[in-house]
Amino acid sequence: MNLTSFSFPTRILYGAGAIREIRPVLNLLGVRRPLVVTDAGFKATTAFASLVSALEGEATGAAPSGFGWSLHADVHANPAEADVRGAAASYVKGGCDGIIAIGGGSPLDAGKAARLLVKRPGFELAHFYAEPDWSGLAPLVAIPTTAGTGSEVGRSSVITLDSTRRKAVLFNPELLAKLVILDPELTLGLPPKLTAATGADALTHCIESFTCPVFHPMCDGISLEAIRLIADALPRAYRDGSNVDARGRMLVAATMGGVAFQKDLGVVHSLAHPLSTLCGLHHGLANALCLVAGMRFCSARKPGIYRRIGEAFGLGLAGAQDPEADTRTISLVAEFLRGLGLASRLSEHGVSPARLDELADQAFADPCHPSNVVPVTRDDLRALYVEVM
Ligand SMILES: [Fe+2]
Repeated sequence: MNLTSFSFPTRILYGAGAIREIRPVLNLLGVRRPLVVTDAGFKATTAFASLVSALEGEATGAAPSGFGWSLHADVHANPAEADVRGAAASYVKGGCDGIIAIGGGSPLDAGKAARLLVKRPGFELAHFYAEPDWSGLAPLVAIPTTAGTGSEVGRSSVITLDSTRRKAVLFNPELLAKLVILDPELTLGLPPKLTAATGADALTHCIESFTCPVFHPMCDGISLEAIRLIADALPRAYRDGSNVDARGRMLVAATMGGVAFQKDLGVVHSLAHPLSTLCGLHHGLANALCLVAGMRFCSARKPGIYRRIGEAFGLGLAGAQDPEADTRTISLVAEFLRGLGLASRLSEHGVSPARLDELADQAFADPCHPSNVVPVTRDDLRALYVEVM
């Protein structure tokens, strides 16, 4: 029997207004000079104003003595090595002793990885796995303002490397945040399109991690409960962005998806990654456009894999044969995505058939599909792209 490690180590502070606890949280971690890492657009948001207010001590009445913070608001979508270097340089310049990564998946991943270059200045991330010791990284507080990537509880950081111009998954448990703040008030301003796309990413994490054949019943339970939450809350958050209850449930569900995919992911994420790096599609949108085709592909080769997912969505599948359970579940997922405005084709988002081979090559080189529920070849990936083109 293979030995498996089960680990759910991240402390999470959840609730509307939780951002106002940032100063006590930093105190607890011994951080006196945090660097806030985010993207340029974030500075104009009310979520940023809430963070500034909490850091300045207005909300808690905390005295600002000996405390100061710096800002690095320059992280790009799908962050590259330059984004990580920039954040590390800001950290050194500000004399910082910890990082607050706040925003969507990109600032969270860049903030996580910046600590690597703080520890080893000038290091090339392409050699990440050759470095045996990443212990003692600067403490990180992760604050997601979208409900999707689950990066806040992830052990990895996805960075496009200088040397290969491809996304690399830098995996090491040392990258984990020391504490996560989940505050639904910070997500109220997310527009419906982004709410839908990021939510579809969270849903894809849950579906792919649940069907991934690694033995991890604890993550499986978390995936199914997160699917139940998403089925209820995502349409509500999409229709009414100011619904704090729906936003809160989505935030927790996305974090649960992030916890669950420590198991691994599958073919849909391998299809989605090149669509972002080569064609600039939003990661959640890319997943949404490939999810149904990916599910049909997997269930045709392993009938019955989606029965419990359908049940988590609320379908009554007792007595249904395996193929019928899959078909009904996949139809429901397709209808669910259509209701979120996510039923379009790749060609409607500027993806040209001329790029099919390039996309298939990158998808086949992607690290997600080897853990898919059934084996996937390059030809399979190309055929799946054609199906959703
Ligand atoms: Fe994802």
